[in-house]
Amino acid sequence: MPTFKEQVDKTRLPEHVAIIMDGNGRWAKERGYNRIFGHHNGVKSVREVTEAAAEIGIKYLTLYAFSTENWERPQAEVDALMELLIETIEKETPTLNKNNVRLLAIGDLKRLPGKLEDKLQRCIDSTTLNSGLTLVLALSYSARWEIINAVKNIIKDIDLKQLTPEEMSAEIFANYLTTKSIPDPDLLIRTSGELRISNFLLWQLAYSELYFTETHWPEFSKECFYEAICDYQQRERRFGK
Ligand code: IPE
Ligand code: IPE
Ligand code: MG
Repeated sequence: MPTFKEQVDKTRLPEHVAIIMDGNGRWAKERGYNRIFGHHNGVKSVREVTEAAAEIGIKYLTLYAFSTENWERPQAEVDALMELLIETIEKETPTLNKNNVRLLAIGDLKRLPGKLEDKLQRCIDSTTLNSGLTLVLALSYSARWEIINAVKNIIKDIDLKQLTPEEMSAEIFANYLTTKSIPDPDLLIRTSGELRISNFLLWQLAYSELYFTETHWPEFSKECFYEAICDYQQRERRFGK
């Protein structure tokens, strides 16, 4: 049996894959550990999937790492996640550079602890010239926050006479989103069995193909990622036409 990696058609790759990395808590609980242990094990999957995407030449990979709603989790879990993000970004920066990966971040980044914002900015600056995969981390992100933020900026620009209501179009609106200059996802993957979007990229997912798997995020391997790509390549995309 060929592996899923061998079955991927390199001439028909999705340009942008977005992932809702879900199920860290359940994965840990099922093994008798606390949720934070699950988050620690989720980092390994982030590394694997980033490598997997870079290896076959995918241009954009967006990972939903922390939602604006996730701020409402118990303080100890939020603190542990922020610590883990600080550690991981620091530790992985050389690997990103080695693999020619450029890092970007989207979300309400001002809400992040100063130390994390700082580390994130350093990593973004140090990888900015890399021309391989663009890895986009969604942190303190939610689509409704993003859309409201866009509307506020549009109103400002109308007040400043830099924009008229008549000029507004889907293209111009998209330029006010945090994903400006990033193409819409072709494929959205959600792990761990929930069949929902959870406030992720509501505008950008308009015509994305959706792929759901029961696999919990800490178990999501390179082959799981390639399996999703193969599934995507079986689909017929019509865009309403
Ligand atoms: C995903 O795993 C990681 C984050 C949302 C930060 P969860 O923490 O949501 O794990 P489950 O879904 O409760 O199992
Ligand atoms: C979505 O997962 C957010 C991230 C993966 C960061 P959640 O676990 O927070 O979403 P719900 O609560 O299942 O909808
Ligand atoms: Mg969850």
